[in-house]
Amino acid sequence: MKHIIAPSILSADFANLQRDIEMINNSEADWFHVDVMDGVFVPNISFGFPVLKSVKQYAKKPLDVHLMIVNPEKYIQEFAKGGADIITVHYEACTHLHRVIQMIKDAGCKASVALNPHTPVNLLKDILHDLDMVLIMSVNPGFGGQQFIHQSLNKITALRRMANEIHPQLIIEVDGGVSISNIDSLIKAGANAFVAGNAIFAAENPAHMISDMKKIDIT
Ligand code: DX5
Ligand code: ZN
Repeated sequence: MKHIIAPSILSADFANLQRDIEMINNSEADWFHVDVMDGVFVPNISFGFPVLKSVKQYAKKPLDVHLMIVNPEKYIQEFAKGGADIITVHYEACTHLHRVIQMIKDAGCKASVALNPHTPVNLLKDILHDLDMVLIMSVNPGFGGQQFIHQSLNKITALRRMANEIHPQLIIEVDGGVSISNIDSLIKAGANAFVAGNAIFAAENPAHMISDMKKIDIT
């Protein structure tokens, strides 16, 4: 499977959101990455349902919704209704992770779990076969434009090894500090979906950057 590129609209120009959505629609990007932050789980507030619904109105590709919020179980239904195709919840925000994953699936969405940089991948062993995707945070969540944490590469390698035994179809997504210069090493480690905010939206030509990221081939 060719790797997935998911531009993060957190780095879009919100005064021109429709323009940036059309850019992604017309690019080689696969998904829209939508970062929801509550100011409690992370030290930043981004946006919620009204913005999600506006994105859904124009987006012609799946919405990959990353919930950086406490008590995500309270809002799964509403995010599904608002247009989420994939819902990622944080391991660190779910006491009853298995139940939350079932709620996501019952709502008709793909289910994914994110791990903060300090959370080891082996904590997912007993739930891995229930997941469509694991999101490895390669920065501390909360802000775009941060520097990639190098140890994330080892986590991807370990997770891919575990997935090969339990659940080979698992998508491994990397989020934070992803750029044209590190995607090849991330693919080699076993990741196959890449979120990029700053690397795309700060590029001179965002659509070309998406295309260049998509072209990277390690074979
Ligand atoms: C960070 C968010 C990321 C962010 C990535 O908390 O989860 O999705 O938008 O931004 P970059 O690619 O700029 O690191
Ligand atoms: Zn994200």
